[in-house]
Amino acid sequence: MERVFARSWLFVAHESQIDTPASFITTYMGEDSVIVARAGDGRINVFLNSCPHRGNRVCFADSGQGRQFTCNYHGWAFGLDGALKKMPKIGLYKATPGFRMEDWGLKQARAESYKGLVFATFDDEAPSLADWLGDFRWYLDAVLDAEDGGTEFLPGGATRSVMNCNWKFPADNFVGDIYHALWTHLGGADPTLGRHGGVKVENSGSYQVSVNGHGWEFNDSFLGNAATMGDRELLRYMRSRQEAIAARLGTFRAGMWGSVASATIFPNFSFLPGYFTFRTFQPKGPLKTEIHAWTLVPRSMPEEMKDRFRRGSMRTFSPSGLLEMDDGENWEFSTQSNAGWITRHQRLCYAMSAEGEVVEEGLPGHVTAGQLSDANQRLFYKRWAEMMDADRWADISFDPPSARAEAAE
Ligand code: FES
Ligand SMILES: [Fe+2]
Repeated sequence: MERVFARSWLFVAHESQIDTPASFITTYMGEDSVIVARAGDGRINVFLNSCPHRGNRVCFADSGQGRQFTCNYHGWAFGLDGALKKMPKIGLYKATPGFRMEDWGLKQARAESYKGLVFATFDDEAPSLADWLGDFRWYLDAVLDAEDGGTEFLPGGATRSVMNCNWKFPADNFVGDIYHALWTHLGGADPTLGRHGGVKVENSGSYQVSVNGHGWEFNDSFLGNAATMGDRELLRYMRSRQEAIAARLGTFRAGMWGSVASATIFPNFSFLPGYFTFRTFQPKGPLKTEIHAWTLVPRSMPEEMKDRFRRGSMRTFSPSGLLEMDDGENWEFSTQSNAGWITRHQRLCYAMSAEGEVVEEGLPGHVTAGQLSDANQRLFYKRWAEMMDADRWADISFDPPSARAEAAE
């Protein structure tokens, strides 16, 4: 909590969740409850969901709209900018020497957005979000900037589920573990793929890219993940967008759009291209993780296709999804068995592709050829270990941005 979550830029919302002024959502940064609110001036503010009087929670709703947050306990009221506006018996405070209303607003986090995704940190010393994401932004554009008009989370909120696993299991899985899919998901993926007789899933080039601990394993199949949602109409529609997306992003990144792929933005924000499920793995102590998941789509997508995405991603990656259930069982049992004293001290094997890594020249970030590899997972834990060890930001290294990513900005 102190070394990783209190310092990192954490995903808190998609701007589309708080599209209108005075709308808000609540979520978590580490184990701290926070409010993400759009103030009257359009600015997005992120603050602790805790009253500075005695610490009570000030907002119990998942989302909503309103002018202020009023604490249940003694009635202190705060604006959408977090400022303390009023309280019962305000005169007693005003008569108190040295008391100033402006000193007692909700504790505010730094908030910055990247193409619709809002991140926040409570660490004043943390580098900018641009430096934190670095060249990963160039790859993120493959899902965030594939179509005109940006993206949105499908309305209706998140699916939420609790798994009895440590948060690092899902983060490690999404950052670079396509290996498990060949075994864990064989039963779930086969029947859905089977229904698509006519759809060709190419798989030529495949890669892992890591930047500052964030990682994405992918191939250039364009529709590989999407094909397992079991919806031929949707695939036809996606195929019809391929040329336009390639014209916008170039063929390399267009190939990543719906491909067989998974990614984690360090530490606990992950997504799957193709299903476009985006999720946070919220730690609840070392042995429990709450998963919040949304589906991201281009805003310009026809409503019918958005609905097909809703159903396709629910069918595969939701608490009752064909593929998500496979993963959950493995993460829970891995967490439980690794808790044993002897077990937790045994060495685990992260050796796949330890030798002969091929760094692809000219692509931003640390790129290795071949999707089947532990390269991203090693770099994820390298970042985790660095943050756990470092007393100061200066002790944590950041990859400098590359010319290619900068040019694409
Ligand atoms: S704890 Fe919020 S008003 Fe007292
Ligand atoms: Fe999986």
